[in-house]
Amino acid sequence: MSFIKKHEKLEKNSILLLISIIVAVLIGGVVEVIPLFRTETVIEPVKGVRPYTPLELAGYNIYIREGCYNCHSQQVRPLRDEVARYGHYSLAAESMYDHPFQWGSKRTGPDLARVGGKYSDEWHVAHMVEPRDVVPESIMPSYSFLLHTGAKIDDLGQHLKTLRIVGVPYTDEMIENAEKDAIAQAAPADKVDTDGFHGRYGEKVLARDFDGQPEMISEMDALIAYLQVLGTMVDFKSAEEVEESAP
Ligand code: HEC
Repeated sequence: MSFIKKHEKLEKNSILLLISIIVAVLIGGVVEVIPLFRTETVIEPVKGVRPYTPLELAGYNIYIREGCYNCHSQQVRPLRDEVARYGHYSLAAESMYDHPFQWGSKRTGPDLARVGGKYSDEWHVAHMVEPRDVVPESIMPSYSFLLHTGAKIDDLGQHLKTLRIVGVPYTDEMIENAEKDAIAQAAPADKVDTDGFHGRYGEKVLARDFDGQPEMISEMDALIAYLQVLGTMVDFKSAEEVEESAP
């Protein structure tokens, strides 16, 4: 009886009722939202996903600077036509080190989430310099200046350090060697010792002269290093074989 009496007070006092509703909704919100701030509760770790190398990160920064995301998405949705065209649908873990993520919202050009390894470096250079040379009906702008602009690599250590604050697991050694690692990845294989670089980022990482100009590390080198790694970190072959053999 006394409980009903107390509740009567609440029902007859609109301000008290309003405050009580806000408190009740806030508790619900806190219980639902707070756990999502811990990435490990929302993103299942997937083998092969690693932070970008300094050179790839420089390319990622150019991708954002040039607004490539305005025309290209980086998310293969789990729909039959998309999977048939682009490959395995995107996993959350594949963009867990993108700050900000590049899922995009518009496809004037094709999705790029799995473009890594689809074309040769030479194709990318030709396409970036003049898209219509390789795809006559293309409406993509030319980015030929990237070939003649040196990539800014002396501040990459600071970029790595900043990303570490938001949870990308760069080590002190990676931060210290950022500039050296960018040079190692873009130089012709026989010119620079890449052991330290591969030790830090794994044997699978591509290290070569991406833009065909061994004398300089251009923004083209960085952008192509980035494009060539997109969608290639996770090995889907073994997973797909399992799916196909299922009855
Ligand atoms: C105005 C829209 C537009 C912008 C901006 C744009 N692209 Fe494109 N892109 C396209 C279109 C359309 C195509 C398809 C025709 C072609 O291959 O050129 C394309 C194709 C591509 C392809 C080939 C994809 C494939 O699977 O065949 C790559 C790689 C690419 N763009 C990278 C980039 C990068 C990197 C940037 C930023 C430096 C960029 N694009 C900016 C419109 C755009």
